[in-house]
Amino acid sequence: MDGTVAGAVMPTIRYFNSMADLSLAAAELVAEAAETAMAARGRFSIVLSGGTTPLPLYRLLATPAYSDRVAWNKTLLFWGDERCVPPDHPESNFLLASQTLLAEGLVPHENILRIPAEPPPPEEAALRYQETIRTHLGQEPFDLVLLGMGNDGHVASLFPGSPQLTEHHRLVAAVPTPTAIPPLPRITMTLTALNHSRHMVVLISGKEKGELLAAISSQGKSTPYPAAQLAPLGQLTWLAAR
Ligand code: 6PG
Repeated sequence: MDGTVAGAVMPTIRYFNSMADLSLAAAELVAEAAETAMAARGRFSIVLSGGTTPLPLYRLLATPAYSDRVAWNKTLLFWGDERCVPPDHPESNFLLASQTLLAEGLVPHENILRIPAEPPPPEEAALRYQETIRTHLGQEPFDLVLLGMGNDGHVASLFPGSPQLTEHHRLVAAVPTPTAIPPLPRITMTLTALNHSRHMVVLISGKEKGELLAAISSQGKSTPYPAAQLAPLGQLTWLAAR
């Protein structure tokens, strides 16, 4: 099922023949990260990705096999980015998680730290979310960051050439309407925030993204792809479905 190709040192890249296999491997990584964090610190912090690729993973995590291994009552859920729409809007990243991972009601309300990207204005929302991260974690890294990657190499809402890529001080930034689909203003964690993590897992599928990953692996930061700038404190793992 899983032909593993390890990079020279990091990152680790694992290829799968189906999204079902990829999602099982991702769920295993989430459960292991949760168990490790609980044993070491008594709580688990995870940053969820937007986009559709992680949806089978989110559904799996809500099943007893994984909900027994992830102490949801001690788990803080953050989001890496959000579109500036209400939480019940079809373009909301929060909505996707609420219809899958959160549908069973396993995570206590106070642990669900969504990005409030509907009014107030995006700049203010970004500052407030930075404060939310600081309040809950202080200077602690995230235990696990989940990400997807767009066909242009974007991660979270950090697009090629965007000024938010060079934001080194703020943890969260407002993104004026990008040319990406859907064309909505967004709020995104910056690389400073995302990279402050013990483990990062990027989920991708399809030939086009596989080719981007190959370019990133061989050429690194000389590519224009924001995903090439992912550099967590600990392990970076790519899970790629062919
Ligand atoms: C978003 C995302 C974005 C997403 C990628 C991949 O809000 O759009 O957070 O970074 O993860 O575009 O999306 P798919 O998984 O749907 O291909």
